[in-house]
Amino acid sequence: MEKKEQLYEGKAKKVFATTDQNLVIVSYKDDATAFDGLKKGTIVGKGVVNNRMTNMMMQLLEQHGVPTHFVKELSDRDTVVKKVKIVPLEVIIRNVSAGSFAKRYGVEEGIVFDEPTIEFSYKNDDLHDPLINSYHALALHLASKKEIETIKAYAFKVNEVLKEYFLTIGVKLIDFKLEFGRLPDGTIVLADEISPDTCRFWDAKTNEKLDKDRFRRDLGGVEDAYREIFARVTGK
Ligand code: TMP
Ligand code: ASP
Repeated sequence: MEKKEQLYEGKAKKVFATTDQNLVIVSYKDDATAFDGLKKGTIVGKGVVNNRMTNMMMQLLEQHGVPTHFVKELSDRDTVVKKVKIVPLEVIIRNVSAGSFAKRYGVEEGIVFDEPTIEFSYKNDDLHDPLINSYHALALHLASKKEIETIKAYAFKVNEVLKEYFLTIGVKLIDFKLEFGRLPDGTIVLADEISPDTCRFWDAKTNEKLDKDRFRRDLGGVEDAYREIFARVTGK
């Protein structure tokens, strides 16, 4: 399968048409941004890590009954996925306080929750992805009631599967962001990526950060963190 015209360029990925109108090719870049694109940089090798790691996670989730857009990995950076219409909601699951949760509610990072939390942001760069609840999402016609229920159930299932998986490689899954899409027949599938860009990973023993927070917070060792988490998921 080969790339045809470019359909879209996002902050971390490009999307290309293919000869099949139901399939597109996503191509992962090394470009990194944070704070709505205010902070820009390059994380050498990130595209390869995010592509391959996302594909491994999508396949693991499919095995556990979560439908995804994944079709086939083409190369280090390129993957064929089903073409979807993205539901404009960022779905965030948290197991441990960190990031905007800690800031918003004035608590320290690292508090382990009794139960995972879920929140939605309205995926809209002009508005800076504001936090919204499911009633707001319904009012804005971002998704139907049934779609929101499906998305919630899948998101918690993803958490159960990934939390357990990451513990086996010595990593705590602190929180993560998911995006879902609609197939032409309306089926909801998991889309976008599952990577150190979109998850917080802490080493289970030392709590060392193995994710994009090293870039966001200028902690140094950014490439090393991506290499380390990749080595653990690939067993190399
Ligand atoms: P937050 O604590 O900044 O709200 O982030 C929660 C999780 O969502 C964290 O794992 C990073 C991820 N995330 C994204 O994938 N994209 C984003 O634009 C933001 C702000 C967070
Ligand atoms: N990638 C997002 C942005 O540029 C934010 C982030 O991941 O922190 O706004």
